[in-house]
Amino acid sequence: MDKTISRRAEPLVGEYFPQGDKSLSHRALLFAALAEGTSVIRRFLVGGVTRAMLRCLRQLGVDWTLDEDAHVLTVRGRGLHGFRPPGAPLDCGNSATTLRLLAGAVAAAGVPCTLTGSAGLCRRPMGRIVEPLRLMGADVSAAAGDRAPLVFRPAPLHAVAYALPVASAQVKSCLLLAALAADGPTALTEPGPSRDHTERMLAAMGAAVRPLGAPAHGAVALPLAAPLRPLDLELPGDISSAAFLIVAATLLPGSDLTLRRIGVNPTRTGILDALRAMGADIALLNEETLAGEPVADIRVRHAALRGTVVSGDLVVRMIDEFPAFMVAAACAKGVTTVREAAELRTKESDRIAGMAANLAAVGVEIEEEPDGFDIFGGAIPGGAAVDAHGDHRVAMSLALAALVAERPITIAGFDILAESFPDFPAVLGL
Ligand code: S3P
Repeated sequence: MDKTISRRAEPLVGEYFPQGDKSLSHRALLFAALAEGTSVIRRFLVGGVTRAMLRCLRQLGVDWTLDEDAHVLTVRGRGLHGFRPPGAPLDCGNSATTLRLLAGAVAAAGVPCTLTGSAGLCRRPMGRIVEPLRLMGADVSAAAGDRAPLVFRPAPLHAVAYALPVASAQVKSCLLLAALAADGPTALTEPGPSRDHTERMLAAMGAAVRPLGAPAHGAVALPLAAPLRPLDLELPGDISSAAFLIVAATLLPGSDLTLRRIGVNPTRTGILDALRAMGADIALLNEETLAGEPVADIRVRHAALRGTVVSGDLVVRMIDEFPAFMVAAACAKGVTTVREAAELRTKESDRIAGMAANLAAVGVEIEEEPDGFDIFGGAIPGGAAVDAHGDHRVAMSLALAALVAERPITIAGFDILAESFPDFPAVLGL
């Protein structure tokens, strides 16, 4: 679907309560399926990516009911080894989190199955899970170039000490789930602080899983000694969805927006640090703990931005937020430099190449580097057609660009945003 969006004259004011966090929704659902007993998960994200996980689990014999209006999910767990062999390949859609986390779970469960997905998902790198899973003894074969479909056959799993070549919570979580069924303690290290939701949630369910290092750069897991306990919780709001509104409120003059009960786990708040370094006016209010995760209300007021530099651990702590951040950088005064961010090329699309092409098309001066980019900011001229490249976050970022551009922007493939933030058009009146 093509969507043409014009400059927005009105500020963003008031309060908004976004849906539950995507990463936490995936984990709560999958871990509940692996627990024994009935779990109740409130503020569950109802979007394309979580529907993929729901479908796959149903094929594995998991019984769940979803109240789509109330966002309440009830899951009847089957235990770590309780999955039923599915009669057909499991279609993970566009969701790499579904595929990579399920890979660890089906290896642990010892259930024969095939994991596949959309053409886009089948282009993404899977060697990063296939290689360490094989080191653990998993019987898994991949398509050419270590891509999905992945075919699993039951095999006993062994404990390993493994250093992840890239910081990745999906890889870490996959291996931690496999480790629950291994024959000893598994230790994982990684080059950066990827999100630690799996460690927090599995530990709360009774597993012996803990972070490694302070700040954490990895995790350790012991084989499961007793069944995982079911969950009964409300999930925090999604900071990665909130980020689009945080950027929009920062850029739109007169804005004063409060986003309610958002997850502010320090492994996810890099975007707040980066925007603050650019001069953004962001305050955290009513901080508390929800489901073992820090949450807060986030109040954002319009502010003028200046360029900044992002590299190192900060890249990992804002890995999903770069498309929105690039729009902020395009509006900021001066140069914004990002390096050590080559991982952006392995997401739903190559977010460096795709966003660079799109921003250049709407008149922004940007120079692409192998592991980042330089944006020479100021204003967004607009008046062009751009493409979401099948990437929900690129679609929403281009909409932000259009809201502040001098002339309208037409976005091809805009509706892909429903993968993670189906309410986005309604919230912004698009
Ligand atoms: C996710 C981890 C990140 C992130 C993705 C969700 C997760 O991927 O980009 O949207 O839920 O674990 P990587 O682990 O590949 O960096």
